[in-house]
Amino acid sequence: MKRILSGIKPSGDLNIGGYGGALSQFVKYQHEYESYFFIPDLHAVTVYQDPRELHERSREIAAYYIAAGIDHDKSPIFLQSQVSAHAQMGWLMETQAHYGELGRMTQFKEKTDSQDSVSSALFTYPALMAADILLYQATHVPVGDDQKQHLELTRDLAQRFNNRYGHTFTLPEPIITEIGSRIMSLDDPSRKMSKSNPNQNSYILLQDSPESIRKKLARAVTDSEGLVRYDWEQKPAISNLIEIYAVFSGEPVEEIEQRYTGQGYGVFKKELTEVVVAKLVPIQQRFSEIIGSSELDQILRRGAEQASMIADKTLRQAAKAMGFIVSHEQ
Ligand code: AMP
Ligand code: TRP
Repeated sequence: MKRILSGIKPSGDLNIGGYGGALSQFVKYQHEYESYFFIPDLHAVTVYQDPRELHERSREIAAYYIAAGIDHDKSPIFLQSQVSAHAQMGWLMETQAHYGELGRMTQFKEKTDSQDSVSSALFTYPALMAADILLYQATHVPVGDDQKQHLELTRDLAQRFNNRYGHTFTLPEPIITEIGSRIMSLDDPSRKMSKSNPNQNSYILLQDSPESIRKKLARAVTDSEGLVRYDWEQKPAISNLIEIYAVFSGEPVEEIEQRYTGQGYGVFKKELTEVVVAKLVPIQQRFSEIIGSSELDQILRRGAEQASMIADKTLRQAAKAMGFIVSHEQ
């Protein structure tokens, strides 16, 4: 059986990078795999979150999952904090992770560079992520390229645990899409598109208006060659825009290149805007219907119940394997 578990942190507004690397992949794979999609709110608070914003953003991410096309009747959608097995299994995974290997995580190093005081939870973050995945015995995890190292660690921890305590966990594989797993900033194609960039023109949010998308793409850096050609070495800025085009149109890169042969960047950017807007506007419309409804909270509650059934079972198996006295078994 093939099973997916993945999620997007509610730590900022969702941008088209998260859409390309994660959300669009969730939507694509939900029919092929038994899927669980969650909102890793426990991961979000590894850096300070305003409580009200955390509350709102958590619901917003869930609403975007549904608005983008995840069928919640088929694939449970839930909040990490509402399934207590995550925090508990997180602790068990911390006992398997080595201090040195956690310190080598590039995302930890990058985040600590830009902060004065770093929470201990930011350090142990990948152990909790491993717990998330292993609780569901996920075989596959669709993520952006920046999560590759965390997935490798997850496999290492699962393997270590299985060797010590007997086979308990499935080793998960990442699904990293070739196109869209690493969408770069519009102002600097050497940096990942990220909501933490202070330049608001460097990213497009899922909630951006068509006019704002047009302006941001019009300002996006290009190069002086004037040719729409996919070549990350020589033409990273244009290659990034071509990837965005491919993510939002679903067309192969070669077709896009061919269509714009001999056309300038002006025409290409204008049509890129249309492609992005055509996809985002219906998502935004559905989002606005979902976000205010109490049905969303019911969906999350039901999702947490469904997720708990699987997660609790795996937690009990792991705890028992380690020698804990596990009281009632199912
Ligand atoms: P986060 O918002 O950090 O929880 O990221 C959610 C998901 O989106 C993860 O799978 C990330 O790898 C992915 N992601 C974030 N930023 C980008 C980006 N610029 N390009 C592609 N994928 C991304
Ligand atoms: N670390 C992921 C990110 O920053 C979010 C995340 C937490 C996640 N737990 C996960 C993604 C489990 C996939 C599976 O994007």
